Amino acid sequence: MTNQEWKERDLAVLWHPCTQMKDHEKLPMIPIKRGKGVWLEDFEGKQYLDAISSWWVNIFGHSNAHINAAVSQQMSELEHVLLAGFTHEPVIRLSEKLVEITPPALTRCFYTDNGSSAVEVALKMSFHYWLNKEKQDGTFSKKPKRTKFINLSNSYHGETLGALAVGDVSLYKETYEPLLMHPITVPSPDSYGREAGESEADYAIRQFAEMEKALEQHAGEVCAVIIEPLVQVAGNVRMYDPVYLKMLRKACDEHNVLFIADEVAVGFGRTGTLFACEQADISPDFLCLSKGITGGYLPLAVVLTTDTVYQLFYDDYENLTAFLHSHSYTGNALGCSAALATMELFEQRDVMQDNRVLAKHMADSVAELVDHPHISDVRQCGMIVAMEMVKDKANKSAYAWQERRGLKVYEHALANGVLLRPLGNVVYFMPPYVINEDEITLMAKVARDGIALATKT
Ligand SMILES: Cc1ncc(COP(=O)(O)O)c(C=O)c1O
Repeated sequence: MTNQEWKERDLAVLWHPCTQMKDHEKLPMIPIKRGKGVWLEDFEGKQYLDAISSWWVNIFGHSNAHINAAVSQQMSELEHVLLAGFTHEPVIRLSEKLVEITPPALTRCFYTDNGSSAVEVALKMSFHYWLNKEKQDGTFSKKPKRTKFINLSNSYHGETLGALAVGDVSLYKETYEPLLMHPITVPSPDSYGREAGESEADYAIRQFAEMEKALEQHAGEVCAVIIEPLVQVAGNVRMYDPVYLKMLRKACDEHNVLFIADEVAVGFGRTGTLFACEQADISPDFLCLSKGITGGYLPLAVVLTTDTVYQLFYDDYENLTAFLHSHSYTGNALGCSAALATMELFEQRDVMQDNRVLAKHMADSVAELVDHPHISDVRQCGMIVAMEMVKDKANKSAYAWQERRGLKVYEHALANGVLLRPLGNVVYFMPPYVINEDEITLMAKVARDGIALATKT
């Protein structure tokens, strides 16, 4: 079968995610036959370097021998069993490992099967926590006092209605606004907005004043603050200084509000540390993880929380404090075995140190873009690099979204064997950690040429 034949069969029956299907009247649809390392290969042998880890999930390359072996072995023993009343070895071993490697206050794992559903769990659990607390304190009334969440502008937490509501990317959210709850949104500490000469830390501290104000005004009605630590990836890959996380942890404690860290995108080493929260030396009350957890193999997500939270749900059944939330594939055994194999790969070599070398090479390979007349910012956080295309560098005025400049980069990159998928006008790299220096050089050249092309007129 040729690419064209697969494409026709696909377009006859599929509806693809995050896609205006009419675009495919002109845009190529790439059927992939196999993957190995950072490379994807179509049905006619053409290869594509996966510079964005297939939506930020792949960590140790496609068709990784170690993960393959672990999943095959698990498949011959047990593919899945419900997780209510039953358990299995991979989920126990994975939970022990996650408790060991995540920030110290996190001692309990609750599983779901995608990032959005992990966020839903954290939102529901934090709401329910306060109800249970009122029951415990004897102040419970039918009208809950805490029903609000504080989020950041430009944040993204997924597509299900709760997760969408606490996000702030209008492209995804605006249409569904009438269906959504309304968070208290405070300005992001994203460094792109800082004044000339202002440090990223100073800007984050300055922006924190609004968060402090929101907490002062609303603490009594707020369940939790939800944020993406260090990088708002879906929000145009904007980055901020860790000092903000430190201040937020302190303020949440002072105002008695829970702290949800959504590391669905940035967990498992993307920011240069295994978890982004480590850079501020903080433990959140909830940590949402997914994507890289299985090395990009299988859908699995987890919310880690503290013993304090867990204990408030632990009571006689009749008191109705239990968290009665479930998904059919919760804690799937194959997913957990892929995750355990991924954790083993982190232990087989010093991945964070090796990534520092790769990250430096990525920085060097796009350094010349700093002076590009239509690039306002080249930013990096660990293994994530972003380049923002603008109409006017002097005042950072954006290209109109209708011009779809990013799409031009996408098309150029595909024609040249690289999968880049810009977010709006932002071209970025977030490759698997098995990329080598030659591959980085190629990825960067294609990106630079694509940017030149897309910003020419
Ligand atoms: C920070 C963050 N949270 C949640 C999600 C949603 O995860 P999923 O796409 O698995 O539902 C994403 C997805 O990109 C994300 O970046």
